[in-house]
Amino acid sequence: MSFLSETLSRVKPSPTIAMTNLARELAAEGRDIISLSAGEPDFDTPAHIREAAKAAIDAGQTRYTAVDGIPQLKQAICDKFARDNGLDYIPAQITVGTGGKQVLYNALMATLNPGDEVIIPAPYWVSYPDMVALAGGTPVVIEAGIEAGYRISADRLEAAITPRTKWVILNSPSNPTGAGYGESHMRALTDVLMRHPQVWIMSDDMYEHLVFDDFRFVTPAQVEPGLKDRTLTVNGVSKAYAMTGWRIGYAGGPVELIRAMGTIQSQSTSNPCSVSQHAAVAALTGPQDYIAESRAVFQRRRDLVVSGLNQCEGIDCPTPEGAFYVYPSIAGLIGRRTPGGVEITDDRTFAMELLNATGVAVVFGEAFGLAPHFRISYAASDAQLIDAIDRIRGFCGTLR
Ligand SMILES: Cc1ncc(COP(=O)(O)O)c(C=O)c1O
Repeated sequence: MSFLSETLSRVKPSPTIAMTNLARELAAEGRDIISLSAGEPDFDTPAHIREAAKAAIDAGQTRYTAVDGIPQLKQAICDKFARDNGLDYIPAQITVGTGGKQVLYNALMATLNPGDEVIIPAPYWVSYPDMVALAGGTPVVIEAGIEAGYRISADRLEAAITPRTKWVILNSPSNPTGAGYGESHMRALTDVLMRHPQVWIMSDDMYEHLVFDDFRFVTPAQVEPGLKDRTLTVNGVSKAYAMTGWRIGYAGGPVELIRAMGTIQSQSTSNPCSVSQHAAVAALTGPQDYIAESRAVFQRRRDLVVSGLNQCEGIDCPTPEGAFYVYPSIAGLIGRRTPGGVEITDDRTFAMELLNATGVAVVFGEAFGLAPHFRISYAASDAQLIDAIDRIRGFCGTLR
């Protein structure tokens, strides 16, 4: 009999974290590594947020808090949803967790029974299928390839819905592609969902503020208020305010669901870090200048990376609407060989050979459910990005 649980056999460790760790190990061995595998802004948390956290510590805000968030933070989140998304929630419809990741996990744990299906468009954030499996549900993956702009069509969504469908997870702008659903496309999806009252919508809006050019962010409950009482609108401070390490995510949704998620959280982490909650209040209620500043920097880097990658032999890189990722295709390189004779049979081999030959760490597309691609996180300095693109161009040029 195995010591480890059967649950564990349904999940795999996060490939993005594995790649980041490998890059770290190689750097520790003295290799010249540029890691473009981690999904976090490379900026410091804004000063006023850090100050609020220090003040909270000094004021003794260091004890257990209410399970799913202090009242000030819940109110700040209600105000944020009203301000940015035109969504009216009351504090009882808000939950705060240890990162958006825990919020998503709580929701799945609180609702899934064996056999329940969760529709996940691919390419997807690596954690969705594993979290669904951990919670005992069945992931149903529907692909949206490069030709579809990495966006699922209404027909594709309609065809995937069965009587067992409990949730559909939407993530715009997306990790790993940066693709965003504009209002008319979102409307086509919400029209489908209006016809299927048993399906709930989990909208992961983590990259809401990182949108470029004239793209306008929308979230399903805003586009179709008729869906609001079966939608969980998930967001967080990690990406919006460079606060990944503080671990605060939140969601708005129907009271019954929010209460159930609180029950799960009460028996796992008790409450999100007290100090971080006070920092998140400062983030949501304080000056919002950081958002526009980081957006401008990321847009410049996106342009730099997209144009650089499109000059690489065999790489096709679409221009994303948001987030800080690009998801180019390497279909043009499959079957070629490195100077050492290794055949590029898939994107995993490409990523490993690229790392070995050049020291650039990217994440292979198979991890996100759509191959042959790779993901670059351009949350790195301009100098590192220019250097990395040069190395990738050089590497692709050596493949025969
Ligand atoms: C799409 C998406 N959702 C959720 C998360 C979770 O973010 P956090 O737990 O830091 O709030 C991430 C982080 O990488 C993400 O990319």
